[in-house]
Amino acid sequence: MPKLSADAPLIHPDCIVHDASFGRYVEIGQGSRIIGAHFDDYSYCDRMAEVANAKIGKFANIAAFSRIGATDHPMETASLHHFLYRSDDYFEDAENDEAFFEHRRSRVATIGHDTWIGHGAMIKPEVTLGHGSVVASGAVVTKDVPPYMIVAGMPATPLRPRFSENVADRLMALAWWDWEHHALRDALMDFRALKAEAFLEKYNG
Ligand SMILES: CC(C)(COP(=O)(O)OP(=O)(O)OC[C@H]1O[C@@H](n2cnc3c(N)ncnc32)[C@H](O)[C@@H]1OP(=O)(O)O)[C@@H](O)C(=O)NCCC(=O)NCCS
Repeated sequence: MPKLSADAPLIHPDCIVHDASFGRYVEIGQGSRIIGAHFDDYSYCDRMAEVANAKIGKFANIAAFSRIGATDHPMETASLHHFLYRSDDYFEDAENDEAFFEHRRSRVATIGHDTWIGHGAMIKPEVTLGHGSVVASGAVVTKDVPPYMIVAGMPATPLRPRFSENVADRLMALAWWDWEHHALRDALMDFRALKAEAFLEKYNG
């Protein structure tokens, strides 16, 4: 297994990637499709993830078979089929509907830092997941999720906060996700051993 790198993302075989950009230590799982997305530092998705029109923060953990920014079909027109906008695929003399694609691209989903998106979850376009939030496996997230909230179900609703408001606020103020790589390494054993409150006390959060 190759090591992750600050220089280029590790993109496993069979991925479809276009109009995408990547920060440091990013990993894209086998068979994933990433279109119109930015993955910031240390974020990854596992196998068969679909990410479209999305801004992924740092340290996001995106499980296998999840979908972020699932694209929509038009529903107000007489037909909602592809041929309305992928017209070039069907007719010799018709162009694609670029305005439709541009509208899709503009509906960006935003995923905060240190988030966890469970297996098979779906995040709708334009939804924001706050920093530190967790999406349960199989959830369909239709509304914004506050920082450090755990949500589950279809549609997703709050299960419980991950931390008290006080701890959540202090973690966001500490913004450890912006630390240098060597600072993360220096604090690694404390990240492992300490509960969040004790970590905050030690690191002046
Ligand atoms: C959301 C999650 C983190 C909660 O973990 P937890 O706190 O240990 O949850 P519990 O098992 O104690 O369940 C708490 C409640 O949430 C419900 N719940 C848990 N997971 C759920 C899910 N995926 N969908 C709907 N409800 C769920 C439980 O039924 C329980 O409800 P109750 O209080 O009415 O009995 C976890 O269930 C989950 O979905 N993890 C994602 C795992 C995953 O996808 N891993 C992929 C590889 S990283």
